Amino acid sequence: MAANLIDSLLELKVQVPSLPEPADEKELDALRVKYLGKKGIVSLLSQGMPSVPKEQKPEAGKLLQEVRTGIEQMLERARVKIRREKIQREIEQEFFDISLPGANPGFGARHPISAVMEEIVDIFTGMGFQVEEGPEAESDYYNFEGLNFPPEHPARDMQDTFHLTEIEMLLRTHTSPVQVRAMEKYGPPLSVIAPGKVYRCDADITHSPMFHQIEGFTIDKKVTMGDLKGTLQTFIRRLYGADTKIRLRPSFFPFVEPGAEMDVSCVICGGKGCRVCKHTGWLEILGAGMIHPNVMKSSNIDPEVWSGFAFGMGIERVAMLKYGVDDIRLFFENDMRFLRQF
Ligand code: PHE
Repeated sequence: MAANLIDSLLELKVQVPSLPEPADEKELDALRVKYLGKKGIVSLLSQGMPSVPKEQKPEAGKLLQEVRTGIEQMLERARVKIRREKIQREIEQEFFDISLPGANPGFGARHPISAVMEEIVDIFTGMGFQVEEGPEAESDYYNFEGLNFPPEHPARDMQDTFHLTEIEMLLRTHTSPVQVRAMEKYGPPLSVIAPGKVYRCDADITHSPMFHQIEGFTIDKKVTMGDLKGTLQTFIRRLYGADTKIRLRPSFFPFVEPGAEMDVSCVICGGKGCRVCKHTGWLEILGAGMIHPNVMKSSNIDPEVWSGFAFGMGIERVAMLKYGVDDIRLFFENDMRFLRQF
């Protein structure tokens, strides 16, 4: 029996290289079961091991191992070959149209408000202004008091304030608080541009309870109304084109003196008169003026030495005029059909 086992193993070892090559996965499986399965030839042979005389055991063990490895390697080679042939057949048979257009996952785009805001900030940083931001939940001091709105002053009512607490905290109604914050933080001379969200309790087709403003101001020695006008002229020409005209009309804001509102020649009709400019040829675009001495004093800046101008504008309004949009709510509905047009 012992000699038999070794003989059988030797015989098998010789046979392995010339075993019939399996043609497909089914034949491959059958071969695996036949030789390596639980009741396969190799395990049947290994059951004879206990009766092999001690001195022949190493040889028998080694042979058994060689036979098993040989068969395993043969099966693995066959498996790889079958698989490769299968893929090759698929490539040859399948039709693949390389001229078909790819699936378009759809691109996002910058929101028109962000785009206009960035454009405006770029124009001013190009003129030497630094960008500053302030909190949206603001104190009464920065939103009103430090800007020369005394308590109970009727001008506070113009602002439709959302109050967060009974006194003191509110949602800022404009970006002007950043004037006070930046003056405290840096002192003069100073040129700042401050974009951000503001809130007013007001809603119709041209007003939204949340909207965006950009504040700008300059403080230096001998700053005049002429500097204000020149700065705004330069800005408007870059934004709306070289032919755009501006005009300043007297107006009132507690934190500027004198105060003004600025109009631009109608960007739709060029000043001839149309529905958008209500046949006046002009569109109101921002508030501005010379920074009030009281505002400087509250930030420890001497108004006898320093002077400055400030202006503030609503971004939605600028964007509505730039793109001819007539309902402010379109900017906040985020309907892709609207947003894709920019
Ligand atoms: N803060 C003013 C507003 O929201 C605009 C403004 C800014 C006016 C700076 C004058 C100077 O209406």
